[in-house]
Order: sequence, then C-alpha cells, then structure tokens
Amino acid sequence: MKSILVTGGAGFIGSNFLPFFIEKNQDYKVINLDLLTYAGDLENLHELNGHPRYEFVKGDIQDKGMIRNLFQKEDIRGVIHFAAESHVDNSIKNPEVFLQTNVIGTFVLLHEAYNYWMDKPFHFKSGYENSRFLHVSTDEVYGTLGTEGLFSETTPYAPNSPYSASKAGSDFVVRSYHHTYGLNVVTTNCSNNYGPKQHSEKLIPTVIRKSLSGEPIPVYGQGTNIRDWLYVLDHAKGIDLAFHTGKSGETYNIGGRNERNNNYIVNKICEILDKKKPKPDGKSYKTQITYVADRPGHDLRYAIDATKIETELDWKAEENFESGIEKTVDWYLSKK
Ligand SMILES: NC(=O)c1ccc[n+]([C@@H]2O[C@H](COP(=O)([O-])OP(=O)(O)OC[C@H]3O[C@@H](n4cnc5c(N)ncnc54)[C@H](O)[C@@H]3O)[C@@H](O)[C@H]2O)c1
Repeated sequence: MKSILVTGGAGFIGSNFLPFFIEKNQDYKVINLDLLTYAGDLENLHELNGHPRYEFVKGDIQDKGMIRNLFQKEDIRGVIHFAAESHVDNSIKNPEVFLQTNVIGTFVLLHEAYNYWMDKPFHFKSGYENSRFLHVSTDEVYGTLGTEGLFSETTPYAPNSPYSASKAGSDFVVRSYHHTYGLNVVTTNCSNNYGPKQHSEKLIPTVIRKSLSGEPIPVYGQGTNIRDWLYVLDHAKGIDLAFHTGKSGETYNIGGRNERNNNYIVNKICEILDKKKPKPDGKSYKTQITYVADRPGHDLRYAIDATKIETELDWKAEENFESGIEKTVDWYLSKK
C-alpha cells in the first residue's frame, strides 16, 4: 500500500477525481489535504465516508510544519496538487490570497516533497525513485487567442488575470524544481471544466440556478467569449494517466476539442431545462437571459491542442459538450 497526498480534494475537480482515483488504484491510500475554504465542501465526498483507504486532513498547503509531519507520518510517495484559489472574478477583487495559496502554497509542497524524497539535487533516497509530484494547472496561463489557433505545450505564457498569473507563477516554480533539483514533476494544463459538484459561483451552475429560481440569467458582455469545455471526469482520467505514465519534467495540455461560446452554452442549458423542467408559465428559460457589463480583462478565446496527451499517453475525451451538459443538468436537478 502506497500513500498519495491529494490537495484540494474537497473542491470541484478534486471531489470528482477522488472517488474515481481511489476505485481505480486499489493499492493506494489517499490522504486529502484541504483547508475547506468557501470553495471546499466535504458533502461533495460523502461517498468516501468511512472508506478504509481514504483519509481527510484539514489544513493549509502553506503550513510548512504540518506538511512536513504529514509526509513523515503517512510516508507520502506521490502528490497530486489541486488546491488553489480558482475563481477569476475573486482574483480581480482580492488578488493577494491567490498569490499566497497558488504560488507560495505550491512552493511549500514542492519543497517538502523534495526534502522527503531526495537527499540532494538529482539524488532520490532509496525507495523514493518513483515518487512524483503532479501539478494541476490551467490553459489560462497562455493568455487569450484570437479567432484562430490553439494553445500547445510550447505556447509562450501570457497570463492576463491575477488568477492566471498566480497559476503561471506556480507552474514556473514546479518547472524549476525539476530543472534545479531533479524532482520528478509533471504539469497538466487543462481547459474549462464543467460537471457535477461545481461551486455555484461558476458560469454553468449559475445559469442553472438562476434559470430555476426565475431570476435574470447573467451573461458577460455580448456572450461571445469562447472556452474549450471539458467534462470533469475526462479531466480526472487525464490526470490519472499523466500521474502514472507521463514523462518526468513534461507538461500535458488537456482539452476536449469542444469550443463553445457563452451564448451557445446558456441557450443549450435553457433548452435542456425547457424539456426536463418546463417553466410554470410555459415560456422558455431563454426569456431570462440578461447581458451584463463585461468582466475587466476578459479573455476572448481559449482552445487547447491536446495532440500530445492523445498521442503519447493515449488519452481522449469521452464526452462532448452536448452529452456532458445533459449529465450535468441532471445532477443539479437531482440535487434540488
Ligand atoms: N475549474 C476549472 O475549470 C479548472 C480548469 C483547469 C485547471 N483548474 C485547476 O484545477 C485545480 C482545482 O480547481 P477547482 O475548480 O476544483 O477549484 P475549487 O476552487 O473548486 O477547489 C479548490 C479547493 O482547494 C482548497 N484550498 C484552497 N486554498 C487552500 C489552501 N491554502 N490549502 C489547502 N486547500 C486549499 C479549497 O478548500 C477547495 O476545496 C486548481 O488548481 C485550478 O487552478 C481548474
């Protein structure tokens, strides 16, 4: 039995990842370290309550002493690092915590992993040769695209929001621990995720919630911003693959080749709800769509070229946006 530390497992992606990962890897004990900020919710992990190979620890990834004790106590052999401040709008209002959690927190984890697994640069302690640090990052580090082109692993970084800048900073610290100390790291940069358990502040849960409550459904600007949407379980499968079969020091872009603009997304959700839960007045939910002032610095388009993970690691998105959004709406309706 090998102990793996997962950070931020009570958040949206982590809580979809954990049940899948624990079931798939029967020889792992998984320790979920999460601070339970406003974004973390243990309710998202109720299916793991009492699981013999799962343990929850409440704590801050910036807490050096606690992390050091955890590595020793649990004999941690791998890290999958999700914990972050993740909402762009919040990073505009309060950037400081983004720099602290995303940059300093990542640094603390890397340094403790290095101290526990290695005795000097490029020299692993006996038995720790395969210990790996997987860093979960975002395509937002690449900045914005015009109407053409895709982000690949070699696209220069050009982050535009405090959130993406802090994730870019964390990616660089991860990179430096590989090049300077020989730490076994892999970074994944993923496009926008959607699916069950996402925090209500994000676009898709907001659209579903506002629709059902009869309130205006807010859409930024003219609704023309484009994202490359990936169903969260496809992301989880990509992370599991990259953790087990990725090449040390490499980065892998993960994206579903599902570019959709916000107008399409909002209209699609309204159409699904019109069918599954018609409005009492017989009108379409689309009548609630309301355009609001755009987010400052709002990137126009993100889109991922996933060729590297598809060809080298044999990953492929199993859902397209239309199949995934149907499942997502069903989940939110079942929760009501
Ligand atoms: N959501 C997306 O579309 C998306 C896309 C690509 C990459 N990512 C990345 O994936 C990761 C997870 O994203 P998410 O959407 O699940 O985020 P989330 O905001 O839903 O969850 C983040 C989790 O981290 C925890 N956390 C925050 N600060 C912490 C700290 N100091 N110490 C310990 N735990 C802390 C929170 O309590 C929460 O459970 C992030 O690193 C994010 O940058 C997200």
